[in-house]
Amino acid sequence: MTRKCAIVTGAARGIGLATTDLFLDRGWQVAMVDWDHEELTQAAATRSNVHAITTDISKPDEIAQMVQGTLDWAGRIDSLINNAGIAEFGSITECTYDMWRRVMSVNLDGVFLCSQACTEALKQTQGSIVNIASISGLRASTLRVAYGTSKAAVIQLTKQYAAELGEFGIRVNCVAPGPVRTKLAMAVHTQEIIDAYHDAIPLNRYGSERELAEVICFLASEQASYVTGQVVAADGGFDSTGVGLPALRRPAERA
Ligand SMILES: NC(=O)c1ccc[n+]([C@@H]2O[C@H](COP(=O)([O-])OP(=O)(O)OC[C@H]3O[C@@H](n4cnc5c(N)ncnc54)[C@H](O)[C@@H]3O)[C@@H](O)[C@H]2O)c1
Repeated sequence: MTRKCAIVTGAARGIGLATTDLFLDRGWQVAMVDWDHEELTQAAATRSNVHAITTDISKPDEIAQMVQGTLDWAGRIDSLINNAGIAEFGSITECTYDMWRRVMSVNLDGVFLCSQACTEALKQTQGSIVNIASISGLRASTLRVAYGTSKAAVIQLTKQYAAELGEFGIRVNCVAPGPVRTKLAMAVHTQEIIDAYHDAIPLNRYGSERELAEVICFLASEQASYVTGQVVAADGGFDSTGVGLPALRRPAERA
């Protein structure tokens, strides 16, 4: 039987690379998609059953070629993992229209365009889409007017797609990661921000790329065959928690 095929965008590093590796562990083949040609080529060179396709997922023409390239290589698409994203933080007054458009074009337009381009192929396999949003799309925060809004829109896009594609047997779900020490996060997380996240997260730590990949691959798999339109926060409990927990966490120690 032909191996199942996943497209993972943003696969050159971070959560996308860990997701690629978990699919490979489970016997899938992976079309690794990224706009960073050098990092993508290096990552793909050390792996089997992968096909590297350098693509900017905000460009419709490049996406069409990427989907055709995947079909020429694997003959099928069983899951699309919309993981590629960028983070640019700034206050509302600092967020220029150029910054707003850069963030929206990758984080939101890219998800819409890749999903639309894969829909026909996913109908053939009754496949699935997993979108990667963020806790910043679930809860508002400072400096994230563009990033947080793009991720909130990805959550709604997930539900729109699930509603329309259910009748074709295509499931569409979303993972909202908490903080993970990837290049994207560490470019914008100071030590002060890291400490504040630890305080606000019941599990009291950052997540790992592999922990995120586990949730993504579960939602893409047959094991989640009756799950669609859902948002799973893989965030150590951040989203479910109210304010004031750090002070209340160890009452015995303070007594
Ligand atoms: N790391 C975190 O703390 C965190 C938290 C919440 C959500 N996320 C989300 O997880 C996803 C993965 O992020 P990560 O932390 O692994 O970051 P990362 O920077 O390590 O990886 C992102 C990858 O996406 C690629 N990429 C960016 N724009 C692209 C484009 N236009 N076309 C093709 N590829 C592109 C990058 O080259 C990179 O390889 C992102 O959507 C991000 O918003 C991350």
